[in-house]
Amino acid sequence: MKKKFFAITLLLVLSFAACGRNSVDEEILIETPDELEAAEPESTPAATPEPEPEVITMIEIDPEAYSFEADSNGFSARGSGEITRTDEVSRAGEYSLLVTGRTASWNGISLDVTDISEPFGEYEFSLWVMPTEESGATTFQLSAEFVVRGNPSWHHFTGTLANVTAQPGEWTRMTGKLPFENFNNASVYIETNGLGASASFYIDDVTFRSIAEESVFDNMLPRLFEVYADYFDFGTAVVTRDLQDERADFIRHHFNTITVGNDMKPSSLQNTPGRFTWNAADEIAGFARENNMYLIGHTLVWHEQSPEWMNRRGMSREEAINNLESHIEEVVSRYAGQIIVWDVVNEAFTNSADLRNAENWRTVLRQTPWLEVIGDDYIEIAFRAAHTADPNAILIYNDFNLDEPGKREAVFHMVQELLENGVPIHGIGMQGHYNTGTRPANVEASILRFAELGIPVHITELDITVNAAQGHETLSEAHELQQALLYARLFRIFRENSDVIDRVTVWGLDDASSWRADRFPLAFNRNLSAKLSYYAILDPDAFLEEHDAS
Ligand code: XIL
Repeated sequence: MKKKFFAITLLLVLSFAACGRNSVDEEILIETPDELEAAEPESTPAATPEPEPEVITMIEIDPEAYSFEADSNGFSARGSGEITRTDEVSRAGEYSLLVTGRTASWNGISLDVTDISEPFGEYEFSLWVMPTEESGATTFQLSAEFVVRGNPSWHHFTGTLANVTAQPGEWTRMTGKLPFENFNNASVYIETNGLGASASFYIDDVTFRSIAEESVFDNMLPRLFEVYADYFDFGTAVVTRDLQDERADFIRHHFNTITVGNDMKPSSLQNTPGRFTWNAADEIAGFARENNMYLIGHTLVWHEQSPEWMNRRGMSREEAINNLESHIEEVVSRYAGQIIVWDVVNEAFTNSADLRNAENWRTVLRQTPWLEVIGDDYIEIAFRAAHTADPNAILIYNDFNLDEPGKREAVFHMVQELLENGVPIHGIGMQGHYNTGTRPANVEASILRFAELGIPVHITELDITVNAAQGHETLSEAHELQQALLYARLFRIFRENSDVIDRVTVWGLDDASSWRADRFPLAFNRNLSAKLSYYAILDPDAFLEEHDAS
């Protein structure tokens, strides 16, 4: 395939400088809807003053951008959209493209990138946008369409500026990143998302470039799972894209257990009643088997990434129980003997709970469709069904924010009661989606508290976001150190409490492919090179000593 690369560094500098945003951390803490649910409490990270961005007011055209000065640069209409090259307005130079005639959010304009991108590459798509006066404020999203054997799928570019609300009379910068999937045809486009399904708008100075870097995975680095072999198992979450080339070598090198990151969620396995789609899940199970890693199934019961048909409002309790039990029976028995641990119920509690009320755990359950249609015993029904389907599987209750005392106590009381009633729960999964403001003492207090239940803790989805770095292109040295110090403190705690911790799993391989790619949460950079956090994990005591911290 022919490849073109477009340099847009100057545009990025200009845009961030013009927005002046990277000096104000709070302003750019925009969560996607998925993340909102799982948001960690935003404790204040230690103040590390950000350098003021240099303000550059001069506007230049990137010579490699599609700036529409000579023609429409290969852009074509999408849906009912019509495109006109116009000199009415331009961000720089004289021309821009005007998009009109839209009747649905996905209509407008697209660029075929089949010949300038590759399946499984990673790309950045950037442009400037401005709604017309008549259209008013409009919310835009950068998106991509991949077509495989005639079947299209649609994906959102991610990043703070991949979804913005733009005002007439003002050019607004958009930029986002996306790992591409397999495709026969790929195109990128801009859609409206919220305000402005029929808005008309101008775009200018578009760039599209590969941001994949050569992997520099170093197979001489000590293996994380070996370093911790005497303490607990060490895992990561994977998607099928990770099972090739260096990424697969990297997984084999550092981990002895893998969690299925997305492909065993209810909507991945049974989006349509009775029609199970096993391909991706089986591929990951096969990889675990070939490499002697033990496999963690994630997850059987959740309020997200689950199809509506399972527990639609108004459905009878009996029908919902039947859907729940038959899904669990089918999935768990298929992988019996292969999946050693199942995250059975995920995130059944509200984001945070009042400590004074924690004993009444039923009152702080998350209002989910399962709770509404079945009642609070959906949790125990799920555990019993999983146990029936595979009596040898280790069954976990998994949740986030469990370092928070109120939520910790609520979960503690629920599990205590269920255990007293003979419900088969064999471990507590502390997800561990932390941020640099997380207090290690709270994490340790929760581990010790759960240990009182007599079942082990699994750290199931560890990552540490640097929220103050959101929207920045790179992680500053100060932020990298701040994150590494917390990794060191946490791993010291995990090691000291390894008698009650069975496993630590990090949620993903590297910063760029993480679900929180905008906040540098993991111990490896996008090219799989080790960050300071890797060295902090490797030897927490030495790391803390070296940095004169404890
Ligand atoms: C995340 C995946 O990593 C993303 O790829 C996906 O888009 C959303 O879900 N808690 C969980 C995980 O239990 O299933 C979530 O995984 C992260 C939060």
